[in-house]
Amino acid sequence: MTTDTTTKDTAPGAPAPGTTVLDARGVTMRFGGLTAVNGVDLTVNSGEIVGLIGPNGAGKTTFFNCLTGLYIPTEGEVRFKGKVLPAKSFKVTAAGIARTFQNIRLFANMTVLENVLVGRHTRTKEGFWSAVLRGPGFHKAEAHSRERAMELLEFVGLAAKADHLARNLPYGEQRKLEIARALASEPGLLLLDEPTAGMNPQETRATEELVFAIRDKGIAVLVIEHDMRFIFNLCDRVAVLVQGEKLIEGDSATVQGDERVVAAYLGEPLENDPGAAEAAEVEAAEAAQASETARADDTTTDTAAGKENDR
Ligand SMILES: Nc1ncnc2c1ncn2[C@@H]1O[C@H](COP(=O)(O)OP(=O)(O)OP(=O)(O)O)[C@@H](O)[C@H]1O
Ligand SMILES: [Mg+2]
Repeated sequence: MTTDTTTKDTAPGAPAPGTTVLDARGVTMRFGGLTAVNGVDLTVNSGEIVGLIGPNGAGKTTFFNCLTGLYIPTEGEVRFKGKVLPAKSFKVTAAGIARTFQNIRLFANMTVLENVLVGRHTRTKEGFWSAVLRGPGFHKAEAHSRERAMELLEFVGLAAKADHLARNLPYGEQRKLEIARALASEPGLLLLDEPTAGMNPQETRATEELVFAIRDKGIAVLVIEHDMRFIFNLCDRVAVLVQGEKLIEGDSATVQGDERVVAAYLGEPLENDPGAAEAAEVEAAEAAQASETARADDTTTDTAAGKENDR
């Protein structure tokens, strides 16, 4: 018997690494005369973390909405694990795609635990009558749901706050709670829309680790972020949307090095402006060279003049 040592350990039931989980083809979304997303193709494979970046208004969130049944694309098709997605968001969740929102959407007056339990409803078989009659099946299912919800809170680091009201959590923890709630539906693909918005650098770093841990559980991740350090550290592939169209897709180095991306989006050098010193050096060298040339010109003139005088 041979053992493939190159295969990553994934959670039981997760598709083999490299299998296409999400396959979006030619997705177009128009709002009246505005084409927010235009013919976008994107795949996410199992075991992958894929980034989606682009300027404000590029169509990133709209594209997510097309993947989650919130919008029905004007054109194009989205398949999840080979099947065309249903047109209702709760059915998309049941099929295995979960998401978080750019503007946090929690039940503010419910506890942290209750918020996660809400996220489990697509996975519980107990129906209306079972809930009303509260028979043994219901209690068993409820106990199991609570256990799983607590596991997830442990996983995101919020177990100690299970009984707190969601609205009393600091912003960064609300984002973590959204992730726990999304995970409660036991997804095969998790879509994160700006998961570190409003977080401090430590929280962002912790979120990076959390996303790696989610990937290691066998859940593929598609993430929108404006924090380029976060994106380029995290993602196996990055796609860039500009004015609704995919400009380029590739690994971090390819995307960071693409002149069109720099011109359309990245613009400024990354973090702490590491290129600034270099740019200043080049500028100084150019200035020195220019004055050197000017002096040389002067000297030439002088010499010529001298020669004139010599004559
Ligand atoms: N429901 C809607 N009706 C009309 N226009 C919309 C709707 N949703 C989004 N748009 C428009 O579509 C374009 C893309 O918006 P979208 O929110 O997808 O951008 P984004 O890339 O997520 O931007 P940001 O980085 O600011 O979140 C924008 O011009 C926006 O105004
Ligand atoms: Mg957005």
